[in-house]
Amino acid sequence: EKAGFETFMLKEIHEQPRVIRGLLDRHLDAAGRIELADLPWDREFFRTLDRIMIVACGTAYHAGMYGRLLLENLTGLAVETDLASEFRYRNPKISGDTLVIAVSQSGETADTLASIRMAREIGCPVLSICNVPGSSIVRESDGVLFTDAGLEIGVASTKAYTAQQTAFILLALYAARLRDEVEPERSAELVEALRRIPDAIHYVLERQDAIRAIAEKHHDGASSLYLGRKFNYPTALEGALKNKEISYQHAEGYAAGEMKHGPIALINEYLPVICICTQTRDEVYDKVVSNLKEVEARNGRIIALVTEGDENASRLAEDLIAVPPTLDELSPVINVVALQLLAYYAAQARGTDIDKPRNLAKSVTVE
Ligand code: F6R
Repeated sequence: EKAGFETFMLKEIHEQPRVIRGLLDRHLDAAGRIELADLPWDREFFRTLDRIMIVACGTAYHAGMYGRLLLENLTGLAVETDLASEFRYRNPKISGDTLVIAVSQSGETADTLASIRMAREIGCPVLSICNVPGSSIVRESDGVLFTDAGLEIGVASTKAYTAQQTAFILLALYAARLRDEVEPERSAELVEALRRIPDAIHYVLERQDAIRAIAEKHHDGASSLYLGRKFNYPTALEGALKNKEISYQHAEGYAAGEMKHGPIALINEYLPVICICTQTRDEVYDKVVSNLKEVEARNGRIIALVTEGDENASRLAEDLIAVPPTLDELSPVINVVALQLLAYYAAQARGTDIDKPRNLAKSVTVE
């Protein structure tokens, strides 16, 4: 059942190109048009929408943070993402023209379920991005975008996450088209890049031994810091979460721009700093490189995730993980796979039970 892999988690990491290809085959036609035929809403619905509120927990919350950036960038709508456990106890300003999106692999997470019940009581339409047909969250939503990642057995979520990211890309492009918010050329460019993602992930998977060597070199530290910005800020949070969950090594994800506001005090010659520097066309690229220089000046041990051929960020790093070039907006889908592998091999070096890490449950059905 593990198909020759040593753990379910490693098998599921390797299934990601296929899962994403499946989603694209299902929702992208030959002309590059996205169709989400199962959604119960028409063009008018998306045009009159006022805002979007995304709620989720854990890894799904990180997908929601990424989804927010994409939806905001492409649809022109105001978008917010909140933790379901916070959202349900605050007094959110949502109404009938706020689309509430719940993201959940299992479809059974108690706080996420309670959040959509609250939203529906207020009169909000609810869309869930979910992996399990027939689950509670699916049954209580008005529309569903299935992530179709197949059964995920490893407690640490991997393929469900990249499927959630892909679902958000599809949804953002779809809603943007219905709202006439995206130029056809930009949309075509994104779709073309999207089609190349499965191969790019494959490329990362083929280099897992190099990632393993880096993980083995740094696995025994007390802590590590993950830095990213903009599209890859959620990637940094997700990389740190994976590391914590399965290797039991403390890890912290941070927005790179927040470094000087506190975490820079942690940097010394022992602290591995995993820095995501792949948004090469973005205005934040230079900023990330200056953050790296600050780490270097304090003798931090930099592991940089860079685009192949990158020279600026690479020069500053002790260890490098190179990924194929893509559009900045889409880079998180590829980058996170490298961070999943980094956490995986750190956990292996530390001898933990990777598929069933202590204290964690696959589905959190109580608060
Ligand atoms: C992390 C992980 C958890 C879940 C969270 C939400 O690897 O698996 O953080 O993402 O418990 O679960 P779902 O997506 O089932 O609502």
